[in-house]
Amino acid sequence: MINLQNIEKVYRTKTIETVALNNINLSVEKGEFLSIMGPSGCGKSTLLNIIGLLDEPSEGQVQIAGSDFKKHSDKQLAAFRNQNIGFIFQSFHLINDLSVIDNVELPLIYRKSTAKQRRELAAAALEKVGLANRMKHFPSQLSGGQKQRVAIARAIVGRPALILADEPTGNLDSVMGNEIMDILLNLNQQDNATVVMVTHDENMAKRTNRLVRLFDGMQVQ
Ligand SMILES: Nc1ncnc2c1ncn2[C@@H]1O[C@H](COP(=O)(O)OP(=O)(O)O)[C@@H](O)[C@H]1O
Ligand SMILES: [Mg+2]
Repeated sequence: MINLQNIEKVYRTKTIETVALNNINLSVEKGEFLSIMGPSGCGKSTLLNIIGLLDEPSEGQVQIAGSDFKKHSDKQLAAFRNQNIGFIFQSFHLINDLSVIDNVELPLIYRKSTAKQRRELAAAALEKVGLANRMKHFPSQLSGGQKQRVAIARAIVGRPALILADEPTGNLDSVMGNEIMDILLNLNQQDNATVVMVTHDENMAKRTNRLVRLFDGMQVQ
C-alpha cells in the first residue's frame, strides 16, 4: 500500500536549513495498522504529509497503492487523495458554519454523485462512528470526542483504502481517546482499511500492528 524509499525532507529558508526527514525507508502492507511515535519536532507530521501527498520529499520515491507521483499535477494529486486517502487531524478541522452532515459530505462534492447519494453515504459514515443522532447539529454543539468522530466520518465517507491520522487523540481525554481508537481499529479490522497513525500515547500504539519510532528525522525502530 505504501512504499517509501530513501526519503529526505529539507526545509530551507534564507538563513536556516532544517533536515526534517533523513533516509526514511518504510513499507506498509494493505490492511496494516502502523503507529509512528517520537518526540515533538522529530518529523512525524512531515512524514505523514508526505505519505498523504500533501507535501513532497526533497529526495526519494513515494509509492502509494501502486502509483508514483513524479509527473502528477496538483489537480491529479488532489483527485488521487480524494479517491484513496482519508485524513484525520488532532484539531479536527471541521467547518463551523456547516452542519455535521454537511461537513461529512464535503469530500463527495468533488465526485460525480447526486445530492441524494451524498446524503446517504454521509449518513452511513455517521452511523458507523455512532453519530447518526447528531446529523443536524453544528460542530460548536459537540464534545471534542464527537467532533473527532465527525472528522473520522468525513475521512471515511468516500471509502478510502488508506487512513492517515495525525495525533487523533491528542486533544481528547483518555475515555474519548479510547473511543476514537476503537473506531480506527474497527475500520482497520472490519473494513480492511490501512491505517497510519501518529501518536504520543504508548497505550494507543500498543493496540496497533507495528510501531515505527523517529528521532531527529531518522527511523530508530
Ligand atoms: N513548513 C516548514 N518550514 C520549515 N520548517 C518546518 C516546516 N514544517 C516543519 N518544519 C520543521 O521540521 C521538523 C519536523 O517537524 P514536524 O514534522 O512537524 O514534527 P513533529 O510532527 O514530529 O512534531 C521540525 O524541526 C520543524 O520545525
Ligand atoms: Mg506533528
